Amino acid sequence: MPRLTYLGHAAFLVEGSKASIVIDPFLSGNPLATVRPQEIKVDYVLLTHGHGDHLGDGIEIAKANKATIVAPNELALYCSSKGAQIHPMHIGGAHEFPFGRVKLTIAHHGSVAPDGTYTGNPCGFLVTMDGKTLYHTGDTGLFYDMKLIGEMNQIDLAVLPIGDNFTMGIEDAVKAAEFLRARMYIPMHFKTFEVIDVEPAEFVKQAEARGHKARVLPIGESLEY
Ligand code: NI
Ligand code: MN
Repeated sequence: MPRLTYLGHAAFLVEGSKASIVIDPFLSGNPLATVRPQEIKVDYVLLTHGHGDHLGDGIEIAKANKATIVAPNELALYCSSKGAQIHPMHIGGAHEFPFGRVKLTIAHHGSVAPDGTYTGNPCGFLVTMDGKTLYHTGDTGLFYDMKLIGEMNQIDLAVLPIGDNFTMGIEDAVKAAEFLRARMYIPMHFKTFEVIDVEPAEFVKQAEARGHKARVLPIGESLEY
């Protein structure tokens, strides 16, 4: 079973039997993060978009680990221009990596690197590792195609933004849960900034009231799924 560790904000470490990956490793810039980028040992770095709170320490982590960055094409090329090894992909495309399968989904959001370089369209990731599927939506508003994503994939664990303002808020994330029909939900993208200071327990309460399994994963804690 893959093991998921919450690194704060939208950052997750996923350890499978064949490899470890990190998604959106925003660590040094996040005062709430409990691990330093230097402590991250991974084979792949998955980036949903170029915003500083997602690209984060991704390029430095990839270089230090000789890891490959998997990202939408424009963002991947940006990372390559900074010296990182890349595997560019794009929305709707899937690829079998040595550790498992990655498919890029749409995400309704923007994407620009902290230095102002436009980094194309943002994405979400469906990651299937050791027979289990994780859906990291990236930063996004609610979209009805989540119903299609739920129909076409047996999602074991979905991590959903709940912070509102930049992404879905709690009400929309609960609706997303209804569309996705995942086995379990974990909230992300809350509290890091003042404008996204919402209570994750409220999401869990509302999701459970609708019959979904959800839990708050404290920063630094792990679960197997
Ligand atoms: Ni963003
Ligand atoms: Mn964000």
